[in-house]
Amino acid sequence: MKPTDILKNEHVEIKKALSILNVIVEKIESSEKVSIEDLEKIINFIRIFADKCHHGKEEKILFPKLEEAGIPRYGGPIGVMLMEHEEGRRYVKNMVENIENLKKGVETALDIFKDNAVNYVALLENHIWKEDNILFHLADQHISPSKQEELLLIFEEFEEKIIGEEHEKQLEALRKLEETYLKK
Ligand SMILES: [Fe+2]
Ligand SMILES: [Fe+2]
Repeated sequence: MKPTDILKNEHVEIKKALSILNVIVEKIESSEKVSIEDLEKIINFIRIFADKCHHGKEEKILFPKLEEAGIPRYGGPIGVMLMEHEEGRRYVKNMVENIENLKKGVETALDIFKDNAVNYVALLENHIWKEDNILFHLADQHISPSKQEELLLIFEEFEEKIIGEEHEKQLEALRKLEETYLKK
């Protein structure tokens, strides 16, 4: 198991969340009723599992190691990945705000939520593709096997410290949403 395998496995879970968000977008577009509670659950998963923990591992651990290995932070793939994480955070912030507006009965809230969800899914699908197919290959090639071993431990410590048991709780919440939205 390499550190990039851990991240790739997390991508599989994040892509499920994107598929769920896609189904929710379709429901909104066809004026079907959507559960606000489910919107909160999927956004929570994205904030905690995808952003705080997964993007945290990339930004605070993997990317700095890649820089140490001689891949520059700016003007290359790391810089692009960082920018895309930030862009994603803006969409997530807008989705969170519009769930709140929806609760207050603001009429435009659901449409604004939907537009941000569409943008977020497109951004993240493309982002994950680039990491899986380009950046992680660079990492596998440029980071020595002994440093990769170290990274595995650092990932574990980071996860424990940053989200702890939320890791399992969020995956469990995702499983339930999958049952509702992806299995027919
Ligand atoms: Fe990333
Ligand atoms: Fe990633």
